[in-house]
Amino acid sequence: MPKFTKTLVTTALPYANGPVHLGHLAGVYLPADLYVRYKRLKGEDIIHIGGSDEHGVPITITAEKEGISPRDVVDRYHQMNMAAFSKCGISFDYYGRTTSELHHQTAQEFFLDIEEKGIFIKKSEKLFFDRKADRFLSDRYVTGTCPICNNTEANGDQCEQCGTHLSPLELINPKSKLSDATPELRETMHWYFPLGRFQNQLENYVQEHEETWRQNVVNYTHTWLNQGLKDRAITRDLGWGIKVPLENEEALGKVLYVWFDAVLGYISFTKAWAEQQGRRERWKEYWQNPECRLVQFIGKDNVVFHTLMLPAILMAWNEGRQDGRYNLADNVPASEFMNFEGRKFSKSRNYAVYLGEFLEKFPADTLRYSIAMNYPENKDSDFSWQDFQNRTNGELADTLGNFIKRSVDFTNSRFGGEVPCLSTAEEWNGLGINWAESLEQLDSAYEGFHFREAASLGMDIARAANRFLTVSEPWKVIKIDREAAARTMALSLNLCHALSIALFPVIPETCNRIHAMLGFDGRIEELVTAGKSLVAELLLPGLHQGHKIREKSEILYTKIEASDIAPELAKIEGLLADALKRETGEEQQKMEFKPVISFDDFLKVDLRIARVISAEKVHKAAKLLKLQLQVGSVTKQVLAGIAKYYTPEEMVGKNVVIVANLADRTIRDEVSEGMILAVEGSEGKLFLIEPQGNEINGRQIQ
Ligand code: MF3
Ligand code: ZN
Repeated sequence: MPKFTKTLVTTALPYANGPVHLGHLAGVYLPADLYVRYKRLKGEDIIHIGGSDEHGVPITITAEKEGISPRDVVDRYHQMNMAAFSKCGISFDYYGRTTSELHHQTAQEFFLDIEEKGIFIKKSEKLFFDRKADRFLSDRYVTGTCPICNNTEANGDQCEQCGTHLSPLELINPKSKLSDATPELRETMHWYFPLGRFQNQLENYVQEHEETWRQNVVNYTHTWLNQGLKDRAITRDLGWGIKVPLENEEALGKVLYVWFDAVLGYISFTKAWAEQQGRRERWKEYWQNPECRLVQFIGKDNVVFHTLMLPAILMAWNEGRQDGRYNLADNVPASEFMNFEGRKFSKSRNYAVYLGEFLEKFPADTLRYSIAMNYPENKDSDFSWQDFQNRTNGELADTLGNFIKRSVDFTNSRFGGEVPCLSTAEEWNGLGINWAESLEQLDSAYEGFHFREAASLGMDIARAANRFLTVSEPWKVIKIDREAAARTMALSLNLCHALSIALFPVIPETCNRIHAMLGFDGRIEELVTAGKSLVAELLLPGLHQGHKIREKSEILYTKIEASDIAPELAKIEGLLADALKRETGEEQQKMEFKPVISFDDFLKVDLRIARVISAEKVHKAAKLLKLQLQVGSVTKQVLAGIAKYYTPEEMVGKNVVIVANLADRTIRDEVSEGMILAVEGSEGKLFLIEPQGNEINGRQIQ
């Protein structure tokens, strides 16, 4: 294991087809920024590279929906997201674009290198082609009836109703989303990346990191490795993307698959950063230097692209090379999701708070703090307006803000605005804070990606400081013992200074304001000199006697009133009401009932009580569970689209109702010998029909 002397941090490139919301911030960008800011405070050499993912079908679909060009879409959202991140204090060293020339070159260079090594495989396949639109249709451009649940609006890649992953060829009555025409099958050739060729290397790579990677990252990756890695098409027939850089017939109209190009964005953007620095080759110090640690922040839905796909591409590049070899990620801290008021953020349902909009109403630091305290590290977390209000008022305003203001004001009114005396190491250590231990905890919290803990530790110091000042009562003590009051104030000001450093990664703007109130010019960022740790300075009181603070204090946080969040709560209610209307609207249609059937028809349906004897997840079908059911004396295997709502563990032992005489169907190479009954609640949530009783297994429902 090399000793790392530098760190390269990357954050998943958000698609430039919509504004980023608080869920994105919580999972990826804020944690990365906390990490980066902390390491900079320690005087480490670290850069943060991110940018927009501007190719792929998500962009073209948005363009078509809005009736503008893909170029317009990415221009708009790239600017918008970059501005929102900047306003939020996400301190990218470079925020790039995958539509840039340099990125295109970089991705093409990778393609050619791997092509020349003969690693890619070319395969022809039949794909849907829209004659009217004169275009091959990628999965998302085909719609039709789901073979599993009969939803008539299933997408070519997935049925949203039952969650089954589909291929367009599986759809009944396929239609082109572009023209509504029935598409025809046409032969087309594509380049495939043989992930399986790197299976061993990847297994070794993952194994080497298993102990330091998060459990969710290891699990997702293992699931893929255990299934055996398959060839992946890395080209598409699409007009928007990076051209396959070959001058032959085969390459005509082909672009690189968006994921193949996007993951290389981290590299091309680092190159662009170096160019901007005027040191073109400098990117190599971060990518091709074994002493540089690569840390990639992502959401849990992006895991395998970063633990398998990108590493495999880099392995292919590194093959046969002594020099110019790329580093693989040392860690890939993938977050869980942060929900919003108990429900999933949803861009398509507009159930979201967008970062830019939020920051028009509330200061960035209030958001950064609330989100850090709700960081979805090991499980999904929740953002609620109430929690946001409580934390801002109780923790930021009443605890931190109040302490700073009291310290500054009292020093100004009674001690001429100067640090009245020297604080000794004994006093510093007698504050009820074990500094050495606190800093160690802070360090391992940040280094271990435990950002909730890191933010809490900072606030703990603020609490201790606030308590110290309150209990010491210098405003009373000064009447009888001026010197004692002076010692209290010197310590308090030193605590203000300590807080401005300890909380800096979380609430940088606030800390710079504290810094200014303490009489310093410039910003905290500027104090950091390579190799020197500001954090270590907290071990001793830092302000000397006579240090002049600023005359005027300021209120760090204005409290959030109920009336400030009332419109936000009303908006959620509106969104939920809309959702409900949509649902009941559907319900009313269902109330029209299906056409009448005869009693004999009804008798044809054989409904039985079954017991679940085992359950497991299905590869590549995130919403499906494979169930083994005991139906009287026979066992049946059934695939059910309930994985989002029921875990395999909790399914075992349940009684369910099965349509026992339904014709077998094959889904993902698995036979489903029936269907279990469930009812749809709000937002598509499924509730199983669960008959109670012990002696009913196998019985018919009549
Ligand atoms: N745009 C993708 C998403 O939003 C993430 C791309 S990450 C990268 O899910 F590595 F490919 F850049
Ligand atoms: Zn379906």
